[in-house]
Amino acid sequence: MSLEGKVAVVTGGARGIGRALAEGLAAAGADIASLDLTDSAELVASVTAMGRRAVGVPTDVSSPESVAAAAVAVEAELGPAHILVNNAGLHPHQTSFADTSWELWSKTMRVNLDAMFLTSKAFYTQMNANGWGRIINMSSSVVNVAPLGGVHYIASKAGVLGLTRALARELGPHITANALAPSLVDTPGLSETGISQEVYDAVVGAQVLQELTTAKDLAGLVVFLCSHEARFFTGQHLHIDGGMVFGD
Ligand SMILES: NC(=O)c1ccc[n+]([C@@H]2O[C@H](COP(=O)([O-])OP(=O)(O)OC[C@H]3O[C@@H](n4cnc5c(N)ncnc54)[C@H](O)[C@@H]3O)[C@@H](O)[C@H]2O)c1
Repeated sequence: MSLEGKVAVVTGGARGIGRALAEGLAAAGADIASLDLTDSAELVASVTAMGRRAVGVPTDVSSPESVAAAAVAVEAELGPAHILVNNAGLHPHQTSFADTSWELWSKTMRVNLDAMFLTSKAFYTQMNANGWGRIINMSSSVVNVAPLGGVHYIASKAGVLGLTRALARELGPHITANALAPSLVDTPGLSETGISQEVYDAVVGAQVLQELTTAKDLAGLVVFLCSHEARFFTGQHLHIDGGMVFGD
């Protein structure tokens, strides 16, 4: 499953899941562009050390102007993109529906959902130019589980699923689009939410594999979905959660 010669754009590649996915794609041979608000220097260094090209493009993926500029920069630095991993996202700080403000709702939608519209629109034309493309969108098991205190986050991730299926239909067959649904993954963003030990224990206890998912656990599936061998997978919502959600 070599990705040699492929250009992969990963949003939020500077840390957490995005960084692990970018490094996994690079290990499979892809050149990497990380679009992130955070400095991607560490990722760029690790990908370069693997002998692949890498560029960090400072980007706010929720801004149309910033995404348009990033698409120009990626094409100029690495050539037209083949792969887009829409990973950047805001984590939910547990908030009841009563306490969910319009501002929190709107910001979550802008970063978690609107941004995927913007990046997909900006990069699918580059994939068309290549005659081949792969879009991977980060969803979450919350779409199925709907835990308390996350109306804004759950709705944004359910939107990601709809976007993924619509893109799979409209952009296929040469471009596939799939969504990845992990449960809790040990990342800087997750620990910043101040999540309690009880929640960790409850999630791990609901899994077949009784341990917290790591970002690296997701990379192999993403490499497969980005390969030629996965050409018949499109429009799917893939649960990678140690065996918690069974089904769609
Ligand atoms: N960690 C989990 O438990 C978990 C579970 C399910 C789904 N997810 C999803 O996985 C994705 C990554 O999560 P993570 O845990 O690695 O998060 P993280 O906070 O550790 O990393 C997110 C990265 O995205 C970047 N980012 C945030 N907003 C941005 C913006 N507007 N423009 C550009 N970059 C931006 C951040 O700078 C950061 O580098 C998110 O979409 C999240 O919803 C995470």
